Amino acid sequence: MRFTERDANSDGVRGGIHEKVLPGDLEAALATIGVIAGDGVGPEVVREGLAILDEVAGMDGLRPDLVEFDLGGERYLRTGAVLPDAALEDLRRCDAIYLGAVGHPGVAPGILEKGILLRLRFAFHQYINLRPVRLFPGVETPIKGKGPDDIDLVVVRENNEDLYVGAGGFTYKGTPEEVAIQTSINTRAGVERCLRYAFGLARSRGKARAFPGLSAAERDRGLVGQVTMVAKTNVLTFAHDLWMRAFTEVSLDYPEIKADYNHVDACCMRMVVAPERYDVIATTNMFGDIITDLGAVLQGGMGLAASGNINPDRKFPSMFEPVHGSAPDIAGKGVANPVAAILSLAMMLDHLGAPRGAEAVRRAVAKVLAAGTHRTPDLGGTAGTAEVGRAVLQALEGNSS
Ligand code: NAD
Ligand code: IPM
Ligand code: MN
Repeated sequence: MRFTERDANSDGVRGGIHEKVLPGDLEAALATIGVIAGDGVGPEVVREGLAILDEVAGMDGLRPDLVEFDLGGERYLRTGAVLPDAALEDLRRCDAIYLGAVGHPGVAPGILEKGILLRLRFAFHQYINLRPVRLFPGVETPIKGKGPDDIDLVVVRENNEDLYVGAGGFTYKGTPEEVAIQTSINTRAGVERCLRYAFGLARSRGKARAFPGLSAAERDRGLVGQVTMVAKTNVLTFAHDLWMRAFTEVSLDYPEIKADYNHVDACCMRMVVAPERYDVIATTNMFGDIITDLGAVLQGGMGLAASGNINPDRKFPSMFEPVHGSAPDIAGKGVANPVAAILSLAMMLDHLGAPRGAEAVRRAVAKVLAAGTHRTPDLGGTAGTAEVGRAVLQALEGNSS
């Protein structure tokens, strides 16, 4: 692994220059990875992910060049800077970005979340937020009677539109007559590319293994997968009418994928009572945010849920991060579960064309979770963040020998 730290400067890149090039991997493909450890538990879980990256990168001939960015609440409080333009330009040149979490109890809500996370998602056209919901064997789900065979879905969350665009404003702010407006923006092109991504994903999942939630009759008709669009067409009769028309049209190009629809309220109910009826869910930015915390709980908690903010066109870097936030309630205690960050790293490896490493990481995580011997308190254990990280590293070594 090559590790580059640049001189500390106002652009958020920290450290002095030092490089380590392992002999023998000079032929390897260099991947520049921007690292934003961020706030709270972010740095604690990112540290474990990076140790694992160091171990597995070579499996696919990848040579990561890590560039650390000092961004987050501490920096903001120290300097007033959230995400300087120069840092954004440095991040633009990265092949991928690995992010811990942002959000600081001493900073007003929205400043860091919008100023860093959302700015990057929008600036780099990461229009897909990919959030797998998968229960690993050995992990308990709070959903009674359900196991790993029942909980294996992927949420494709539209990531560049809707209420997240930040369109709106106040009039008469702070007075009894105050009006606050926040507008949901939905473009035909933005919705369509999200839906096409979801159908494409269902197609590739179906090629690997037909979705078990299909009936025998549906299989006989040649169906292999399902996309459930989740929206609120009964109330949002403009925005979600556009979604439904786009969905109906796009679905015609994927005859082997069942086009299914749920209102978002019913989806929440069904995720709990019958999660096995979901394969790929395609949904709006706001609803996707909400249902993926529910999805995180189905798979054992916030400590296990991974995500990728994807620019499918690959014109800009994609960004990989756990679904959870900075968890101020447990930050600094060394007890955060690093698995969500480690599984996000596996998604990053897949994206960077390193499928062996990605699969090895997932296998090692599965082994540790199945053994149950090294678990953080959120999973009922007593292990710390670093212990779980080490256990995954050891499982990796065990797998490769
Ligand atoms: P959170 O996800 O940080 O925490 C919710 C609960 O889950 C807490 O009880 C926390 O202890 C627990 N939890 C989270 N991650 C965990 C882990 N790895 N291991 C064990 N337990 C874990 O959500 P919140 O409390 O609503 O938000 C805290 C801050 O994070 C806010 O400032 C919020 O805006 C921000 N946030 C950032 C991101 C992000 O950077 N992607 C995501 C969500 C929230
Ligand atoms: C998430 C987070 C973010 C979101 C916030 C912190 C902006 O909750 O990644 O799920 O709403 O997308
Ligand atoms: Mn969220």
